[in-house]
Amino acid sequence: MKNDPKELIQNDHRIVEKLFGQYETKGSDEDRRFILDELTRELSTHTEMEETIAYPAFREALGTAGNELLEEAYREHQEVKTILEELATRDPREPEFDAKMKLLMEQVRHHVKEEEDEMLLEVERAMSEEKRSELGDRMMEFKESNQPMSDDTIDMNEVDEQLDDERERSKMPPVEKEEGHMT
Ligand SMILES: [Fe+2]
Repeated sequence: MKNDPKELIQNDHRIVEKLFGQYETKGSDEDRRFILDELTRELSTHTEMEETIAYPAFREALGTAGNELLEEAYREHQEVKTILEELATRDPREPEFDAKMKLLMEQVRHHVKEEEDEMLLEVERAMSEEKRSELGDRMMEFKESNQPMSDDTIDMNEVDEQLDDERERSKMPPVEKEEGHMT
């Protein structure tokens, strides 16, 4: 199968987890802001792809037996969106920023575990290979048309390089005032 829905979702989860790891190890305020931006982009595309394409297909395949799992998943997505909205207005220097990031990581990690340990396994049992393959193609199509960058997934080396660039820039004397620059 070229595009397995389970693998596509798991790949996205691994990218988000890597960004969490980066947040936990990189210290500067610039790094934190940059990582949050990447996370917001990844999580928004991922949850929208699930809600508009994957979950409706899962619901159809699982029938009423899947109601509880899916309702919980939608509810958890909503909570993640709310935390991301709150983070968008926060300054990385505030202690609340870190508290909210920790909440976000906890919430997403819990959601990822539930999806991977329960939902995706049940879907794999309930859906034919043909249907999963067709769903995977549609998921991939969505991702490709909604990807802000030219490549399909975030290149983590690139993220590292950009973080280094930002760190360099923050050491240089300010040449021009950037958007969102804090005084
Ligand atoms: Fe999800």
